[in-house]
Amino acid sequence: MSSMASFPELRLRRLRSSEPLRRLVRETRVTPADLIYPLFVVPGRGVRERVTSMPGVMRFSVDQLPAEVKEIHDLGIAGVILFGIPAAKDATGTGAYADDGIVQQALRTIRDAAPDLVRIADVCLCEYTDHGHCGIFDGVHVSNDSTLPLLAASSVSLARAGADVIAPSDMMDGRVRAIRTALDAEGFEGTPILSYAAKFASGFYGPFRDAAESTPVSGDRRGYQMDPANGREALREIAADVEEGADMIMVKPAMPYLDVIAPARESFDLPLFAYQVSGEFSMLQAAIERGWVDAARVIPESLISIRRAGADRIITYFAKDFAKSFAGGSAG
Ligand code: PBG
Repeated sequence: MSSMASFPELRLRRLRSSEPLRRLVRETRVTPADLIYPLFVVPGRGVRERVTSMPGVMRFSVDQLPAEVKEIHDLGIAGVILFGIPAAKDATGTGAYADDGIVQQALRTIRDAAPDLVRIADVCLCEYTDHGHCGIFDGVHVSNDSTLPLLAASSVSLARAGADVIAPSDMMDGRVRAIRTALDAEGFEGTPILSYAAKFASGFYGPFRDAAESTPVSGDRRGYQMDPANGREALREIAADVEEGADMIMVKPAMPYLDVIAPARESFDLPLFAYQVSGEFSMLQAAIERGWVDAARVIPESLISIRRAGADRIITYFAKDFAKSFAGGSAG
């Protein structure tokens, strides 16, 4: 700092005196193109059902997706990430790697309806196993190494059905390499991996587990997802996934972990995503519904905080609401 002006020459309020000046010096922006919208897909026909714990979020049957994804695309949103609720669950999560699995069907439908919308496939077994864990479960432990081939099979199946990006969220060690190897062996060497590299064992996933019907019947996920107390370990997790071949990385949840996003941005040059998860969304929605906070203020502010911390892109259930207000000119 060369010129160290101080009051009264220095007046930081000068640059805040009008909206055009504020816009001129604004450091961080969010646009709909920075956002990814999660979609929950359920079996059946003609289904559009509300998720009680996530006001404004719906679960759709596959036949309802074309209209929905056209709207998402027209709003300028970058892409969608898909979660499936299968008709039947079993011990090994067969629905996750079935050619006619629920997300596989959804991917084909979305590709036809909105070809330019990026299709991200979440890869995990928890929605497909009858015990609700993210891998092979013996009643006490989730086995790391015997889960890897199933995650790899699911990834190949999803790529074959038209996924543009494979996004493993299971937190098994070595899954990125196992998935990369399997994709390459099947001719999908061009399909990128977005790794949920630093995923914490968070209470903020509560509403999602209602929506995806993926609450473990016994135990919890602390044996594989990260301890919320560990910021330095998050950087080791990310480094391991980068070393295994991840093309893009993610920190999840977002707002309670802004301090993890910031050093991840400093340390890695890969595209960095953050997931503003269900509990972050529902908490804000609950306060918005009661009139305690103003949606037009807190939704953009929450997204800006995540961008300012260093995330390039945000997965958020607010994507559509934000994009609608953005088109109306009130955000950004
Ligand atoms: C699946 C998965 C979860 C989320 C995304 N992928 C749930 C979990 O790990 O329990 C959470 C998303 C959210 O809360 O919005 N493993």
